[in-house]
Amino acid sequence: MATERPSIVVVGSLNVDYTLRVSRLPVPGETLNSRSMLTCFGGKGANQAVAAARAGARTAMIGCVGADESGTRYIEALAAEGIDTCGISRSETPTGIALIAVDDAGENSIIVNPGANHEITLAGIERHAELIRGADALLLQLECPLPVVRRAAEIARTAGVRVILNPSPLTDAFLCERFEVDVLVVNAGEAQRVAPERDLKEAACRELIITRGAESTLSITANGVREFFPPKITPIDTVGAGDAFTGAFAVAYSEGNPNAIAFANAAGALATLKAGAQSSIPRRTEILLML
Ligand code: RIB
Repeated sequence: MATERPSIVVVGSLNVDYTLRVSRLPVPGETLNSRSMLTCFGGKGANQAVAAARAGARTAMIGCVGADESGTRYIEALAAEGIDTCGISRSETPTGIALIAVDDAGENSIIVNPGANHEITLAGIERHAELIRGADALLLQLECPLPVVRRAAEIARTAGVRVILNPSPLTDAFLCERFEVDVLVVNAGEAQRVAPERDLKEAACRELIITRGAESTLSITANGVREFFPPKITPIDTVGAGDAFTGAFAVAYSEGNPNAIAFANAAGALATLKAGAQSSIPRRTEILLML
């Protein structure tokens, strides 16, 4: 295993999350009162960056926030985590937001207004190409424009940097124009659309990881299927659990840890035990303790 801290670059989204606690998720046409509201930093990209940093990696974030107070506070918060924020640009479009409902079972439903996340440009990616080329792994999601995500992946793969893609939220555009990555991390629902036959060629990756909540996480490679059972817990809030899994996985995978998925399962499980996205992401010591 590598002894140096791995270096992870994340190209992705930064949102302010407004999380409302409800006894159950509303049905179409229904109005519900919430019990409480929590405002915290989120966005799949930045959540994964925080997860990677707390799991022990040197981490850099490439993305875009608004030239507003939320954007300024967000950059300060990431810098306080030790994350390199030089790749975060500012735009006139406001910082992205997410409206999240979480029910008593910890399940959630999320609506995102991308805002500045959609202002990140191909030129912006080229400006930070050296940062990507110098990483051990590049982490991507789909909350930024697809051409930007694809170009970042190309830069990384050409330089021999491993690419881990969490294709969430899954779009038809991605399914039509998918591109080669090393590892694809999907949940059970996404797996049905990405590669129903669990075919790596169809998924355009070398390893397909399927997270399945309380059930075993599957790792599918040319050598076959392996199962990794997550710790048994009672979730309070599942928001950001997938991001905690992916960020922690990127670190352990870059370290050459053969138990990278077990490490990531522990991180994902711990993230469901507290409210909020980034507020619930565990540190390396907590993950190791759970293992
Ligand atoms: O994966 C959870 C994240 O999805 C939230 O933090 C929210 O911002 C949305 O991007």
